Amino acid sequence: MIRSYIKKIEFHVPEKIITNDDLAKKMDTSDEWITSRTGIEERRICHCNFSDMALVASRHALAAAGLEPGELDLILLGCLTPDSHCPNTASIIADALGARNAAAIDINSACTGFLYGLHIGTNLIRTGAHKKVLVIGGEFISHYMNWAKRDVAVLFGDACGAVVIEATNEETGLLTASIGCESDAKYAIQITNLGSSYSRMTDDFLYVDWNFEGQEVFKRAVKAMAQACENVLEKQNLSVSDIKLVVPHQANKRILDALAKRIGLDENQVFVNVHKYGNTSAGTIPVALTEALEESKIHPGDYLLMASFGAGLTWGAG
Ligand code: UT7
Repeated sequence: MIRSYIKKIEFHVPEKIITNDDLAKKMDTSDEWITSRTGIEERRICHCNFSDMALVASRHALAAAGLEPGELDLILLGCLTPDSHCPNTASIIADALGARNAAAIDINSACTGFLYGLHIGTNLIRTGAHKKVLVIGGEFISHYMNWAKRDVAVLFGDACGAVVIEATNEETGLLTASIGCESDAKYAIQITNLGSSYSRMTDDFLYVDWNFEGQEVFKRAVKAMAQACENVLEKQNLSVSDIKLVVPHQANKRILDALAKRIGLDENQVFVNVHKYGNTSAGTIPVALTEALEESKIHPGDYLLMASFGAGLTWGAG
């Protein structure tokens, strides 16, 4: 039976750091409010294109995996803040990498984009349709921010991660996943004035904006991620005590604490880096996975659990 294993994972974050105190100089907020409500202390801000960040992460992942770009047969990009819609940004990255033999697909499922991509790539490898796949997850969300909205602007940051997955016969990699979407609540997170449902004949078209129902999203995120985690544990006949580390989407430290409590995890089983980067949407899991490896918190053979939640409202665990 063909399986898919995670050969290498790398990430890139921009150099520029914006602290909570920096934000407090520009809007009516404070370090005390942001840290106590979210756990976020600082975030990174991109000054190049999204694809430039993605290229650095991808080149590092390919080099570490010992793979030439020409060997890739598929690139999957989880991202809702692409360089452009046409051409899609996966093809911009493919061209810059020199991945001439790869199909290139953008996946817009917001914060779950990386997990959705890993699930799709893994299963395409399992069917035999593809052999060497690059899955990228990241965001240039500061570009799309309404900086006048303090309830949203303080939450996000820019980052990108990339993994190389390959066919293998061993039982490893993403063993199972459970993904879904609470589409009835799709407008709980909404970027407006971007897309063909908005009129191009008004001045409003020039200004993207956000609708963000923070408390509603908070409650749904905890519930859906907990349920998704339980789904995958049950499918694999595992319990939380078998899990070395949970690497969840990093949106808010309070969400991670509530998730841990709900599914019965110890604090040291949950990886947290939201204080350093804020919510980087599709970037959070690959960045956190790489840092967990670098910090020797995980080793080959360990069972990991990933969980995510985002606009759509998409959810998943693996
Ligand atoms: O990745 C996608 C998933 N996203 C998420 O999971 C985000 C989920 N939601 C959350 O993390 C939280 O709901 C927030 C961090 C967004 C908000 O925390 P909260 O504890 O739910 O705060 P709140 O919305 O109830 O706001 C409390 C107060 C309000 O003032 P009043 O009405 O009580 O006077 C807000 O106006 O805090 C005020 N406020 C702020 N004050 C200072 C809102 N934003 C800020 C701010 N600085 N940045």
